[in-house]
Amino acid sequence: MTEKAVNLVLMGFGNVGKAFVKLLEEKTDHLRESHGLSLFLRAIFKSTGGLFPCAGFKLKDILDDPGADLRVHAFWKQNLSLESIVREVEPGVLVDCTPSNLKTGEPGLTHARLALDSGWHVVTANKGPLAVNFSGLREKASRNRLALKFSGAAAAALPALDVGLCSLAGAEVLAVEGILNGTTNFILTEMGEGRSYSEAVQEARVRGIAEPDPASDVEGWDTAVKLLLIGNAVMGLNLRLSDISVEGIVGLPAELIDRARREGKSVKLLGRIRREQGGITASVAPCVIDHSHPLFGVEGTAKGITYFTDTMGDVTLTGGKSDPRGAAAAVLKDIINIYHP
Ligand SMILES: NC(=O)c1ccc[n+]([C@@H]2O[C@H](COP(=O)([O-])OP(=O)(O)OC[C@H]3O[C@@H](n4cnc5c(N)ncnc54)[C@H](OP(=O)(O)O)[C@@H]3O)[C@@H](O)[C@H]2O)c1
Repeated sequence: MTEKAVNLVLMGFGNVGKAFVKLLEEKTDHLRESHGLSLFLRAIFKSTGGLFPCAGFKLKDILDDPGADLRVHAFWKQNLSLESIVREVEPGVLVDCTPSNLKTGEPGLTHARLALDSGWHVVTANKGPLAVNFSGLREKASRNRLALKFSGAAAAALPALDVGLCSLAGAEVLAVEGILNGTTNFILTEMGEGRSYSEAVQEARVRGIAEPDPASDVEGWDTAVKLLLIGNAVMGLNLRLSDISVEGIVGLPAELIDRARREGKSVKLLGRIRREQGGITASVAPCVIDHSHPLFGVEGTAKGITYFTDTMGDVTLTGGKSDPRGAAAAVLKDIINIYHP
């Protein structure tokens, strides 16, 4: 197999960024032997600066750094500019693992535009830029013949986009239903076992499943963005967040869950898109479902999606790790698929 060398620039060295660097280290031989890829991390950015050049020391050394605080490294540069790096280094893939801001899209939006304008493919776990300017970024990527991939932002380790785009090729997706947020599914599962809403949220925090501020999850916005990405990418829609009616699970009464359980049913936060009489409806809301629903058995932090198609019937996918390592693995998968689609 001919070997391809690919340069990477990593934006963000938090939970997902670190898990990604760890995967690069773990999978070096596998990537070379199975995919003919040698991935070279050339720069790592945090909010105040970055590490450049990364050549010259091992990934393991970065990870072994106590607290993984890059600022103690000799190659740390305060206020390092991405602009100079994407011009100086031969283009490869910009990997975005910075925080998701669903209102402004920043900082990821500026980074993605800069990368795509400078010949770099973009692989992102960050939902913000896509929530704010999905079509603009897609157009820019396609105009410049570059890849823009976002499995890590859509449902991460659950390969919802790959199945929708590749395995359902030729079929029309008439509707989608998904449990796309592991944190809310965990909270609802805990409530199904008798906890109140606030006890379930607290349990999710204690187990490190919910972020200290889980607003985006419990208010339904995280599910809404993932639904937008799947609908736009797989169904060819042009949804904006404002097109989706969003109701979360905040303060959901325990009696509702209890009644559903007594009737052998279950409450799930479902993201749904349907094509109806020439129009599209898109929503996120807690729904009572029974055992005949394909996502009935999706419990805890698991996720799931069902595609309803014209020629292939209903296709359901469940599982996938809901954690930084699962998200990092989805990012790595996207990089591999740019070079070996
Ligand atoms: N955590 C998960 O399981 C998961 C799963 C799927 C998708 N995601 C998405 O993945 C992304 C990263 O999540 P995370 O949990 O790793 O977040 P995190 O732990 O908060 O890490 C964010 C990193 O981004 C850096 N950063 C912030 N602003 C920056 C800027 N302007 N330029 C460069 N770097 C900047 C931060 O730097 P400082 O350290 O200097 O603050 C930090 O290193 C988010 O968009 C999230 O929605 C996360």
